[in-house]
Amino acid sequence: VRRPRVHPSILSADFTDLAAEVARISTADAVHVDVMDNHFVPNLTLGLPVVERLAQVSPLPLDCHLMVEAPDRWAPAYAEAGAQGVTFHAEAAAAPVRLARELRRLGARAGVALNPATPVEPWVDLLGEVDLVLVMTVEPGFGGQSFLDVVLPKVRRLRAAVSAAGLDVAVQVDGGVSAATVERAAEAGADVFVAGSAVYGADDAAAAVEELRALAAA
Ligand code: DX5
Ligand code: ZN
Repeated sequence: VRRPRVHPSILSADFTDLAAEVARISTADAVHVDVMDNHFVPNLTLGLPVVERLAQVSPLPLDCHLMVEAPDRWAPAYAEAGAQGVTFHAEAAAAPVRLARELRRLGARAGVALNPATPVEPWVDLLGEVDLVLVMTVEPGFGGQSFLDVVLPKVRRLRAAVSAAGLDVAVQVDGGVSAATVERAAEAGADVFVAGSAVYGADDAAAAVEELRALAAA
């Protein structure tokens, strides 16, 4: 397991001032960008034009989390826009291996996201096809929800499978990650931590990032 990385989610940021909101998290490892289409999840956020512009102005790499239907059609454009990582949902992809290969061909790190009720086992033999597995620790769609401890055994099984395969696949958790929950996620084997409200709700967002990273490393 590598040094923990913290990716603040701008879902909890001020959408009218994104450049300044990214500047608030200078200590972060990347910016987590939640794209929602109001079909895969019952919420609508931002899309390609905003990500294209953010990629030009952000000093941090972009980690795009696509909560959209038909990612086979939409995800490659986020890689072309300059996102360092593009994560699509397993539940939504028609041909996830083909899509992951396409994202890598375009120079992005390919990620697959699993909702709380989606099993990790079908992905155990496919881990070589992705750079990251995102284990949702809430139902996707909104910030500020409570961390689901019931998902931790899945994080543990995923980490064991990654280790057994000897692969360099990141294990990301997203949803309800805070100073109160990050240690449990790290102990289960996560190494990339997405946090929205816990970072953007803090007076000093950069310090909140460092606190989460220190707790995860402890
Ligand atoms: C939820 C999003 C998360 C969200 C996390 O659907 O994928 O990235 O912003 O927010 P918090 O950390 O507040 O649960
Ligand atoms: Zn997310």
